[in-house]
Amino acid sequence: MHPWTYDEFKHIGVDFADPQQVARYDARQRTSIERQQQLVERLRITRDDLVIEFGPGTGAFSIAAAMAGAQVIAVDISESMLDYASRKAAEMGLATIEFVHSGFLAYQHQGQPADFIVTQFAFHHLPDFWKAVAVRHFHDLLKPGGHFFLRDVVFSFDPSDYEAAIQQWIDEIASENGDSFSRADFEMHVRDEYSTYGWILEGMLQRAGFTVDATYTTPTYAEYDCVRG
Ligand SMILES: C[S@@+](CC[C@H](N)C(=O)[O-])C[C@H]1O[C@@H](n2cnc3c(N)ncnc32)[C@H](O)[C@@H]1O
Repeated sequence: MHPWTYDEFKHIGVDFADPQQVARYDARQRTSIERQQQLVERLRITRDDLVIEFGPGTGAFSIAAAMAGAQVIAVDISESMLDYASRKAAEMGLATIEFVHSGFLAYQHQGQPADFIVTQFAFHHLPDFWKAVAVRHFHDLLKPGGHFFLRDVVFSFDPSDYEAAIQQWIDEIASENGDSFSRADFEMHVRDEYSTYGWILEGMLQRAGFTVDATYTTPTYAEYDCVRG
């Protein structure tokens, strides 16, 4: 920790420290354990794999991985999110998830290296320089051959088209009736958070030593299935 180290615990954007925001999150983001089970199957996470999830939020993916028999470490900077997710896991009788109040940069691992690291819709909370630091950290947390799966709001439109592309995304996705995140939430995402270009992320991942399989699902969403070489 240096005087210049980024403070990843300061909340920006949607305040996930607010228990009311947390309680509404699943409906607004349309997260569900069933959808996350599809990702667990796709990644072939099985019994006794060690999975670290960063930014689990309300915990759907960590819960789905634990249901498949994995040992899970769920790391989030928001204590409200961790409380909510750990209550849900306890209600479901799942005892193999360890909830840790820490972050992408601060998390310190003890024990065996991980088989999988997963983060969804959380990495945009770090500025790019610190994303590169975090990606290097993830590489060191994984076994050789281990997977890092990243899904987020990532831009792949041409930089010269940015105004139209961002406006089209917000127009298509923002909810006008409160059943999802609002126009103001998405405007704030672009203005105050750190979504970046796919080619920047791919460069970071490759330089950290990952083999990268990138999928740009739309001009504003991407997934990266990365293997530690
Ligand atoms: C938009 S939510 C995504 C939750 C969940 N992964 C999903 O896909 O629905 C972002 C989550 O990342 C967490 N977060 C933000 N910055 C973080 C950091 N530096 N380290 C770990 N988690 C972080 C937030 O507290 C929040 O729970």
